[in-house]
Amino acid sequence: MSRTLVFAGNWKMHKAPADARSFFDEFLGRIAPAGDRRIIFFPPALAVPTAVEACSGRSDVEIGVQHIHWEELGAFTGEISAGMARAAGAQASLIGHSERRHLFGETVGETGKKLQAASRAGLLPVLCVGETIDERRADRAEQVVREQLEPLLDCLRGNGISRDRVMVAYEPVWAIGTGETASPDDAQEMHARIRALLDEVDAAHVPLLYGGSVKPENASVLLSGEDVDGVLVGGASLEPSSFARICDAR
Ligand code: 13P
Repeated sequence: MSRTLVFAGNWKMHKAPADARSFFDEFLGRIAPAGDRRIIFFPPALAVPTAVEACSGRSDVEIGVQHIHWEELGAFTGEISAGMARAAGAQASLIGHSERRHLFGETVGETGKKLQAASRAGLLPVLCVGETIDERRADRAEQVVREQLEPLLDCLRGNGISRDRVMVAYEPVWAIGTGETASPDDAQEMHARIRALLDEVDAAHVPLLYGGSVKPENASVLLSGEDVDGVLVGGASLEPSSFARICDAR
């Protein structure tokens, strides 16, 4: 039997609720449910209820948020909690996306608190990790990814979160939005390292997604890596036909 592949779309700061509605009107017509495919969208939080409603009845499509705060409620202007996201129908949350880390100063310690908060609220955490171009040139890519994974490994060691409800996305920062993709070999090599680290905490089965300039033209070759279980797509997930083509990649 073929393995289940994950196709995730991170819309970043694109699409108001009405735009999300028109996207799904077209996208859901193009993509039929398939047992070996799981699709997850991360719209802006304001469009989550619309996306949830548009995809109700499609168990192959899940909706998540891009960001949560680790507290449940309180004086944290501008933030949303995992519980609120769950109550709005979200089923997953990105955590530690490179834009959160590099543009908004999210720390490794904060990603640990968010992993636990997401899990407690019943959201599937998708931890994003990845090195910058300077870190890669300095031969520090593996070390950086290991440091960013540590909060997750820690949670798994202590059974703080469920092994069966978590994913990791490897997104080299230099490949995000640049049109420059990691070669399939580079992606597979880092995924194999991440897999080995997860194996040490009995979590080798956690799905590993690759992200960074994934397009309809390169999705199949990236997914050919044996440790690449899916893709996390930014720009090319904004257009129904291009994301539908990616979701058909095998
Ligand atoms: P692009 O696909 O636009 O490079 O973005 C990748 C990404 O950051 C997904 O989270």
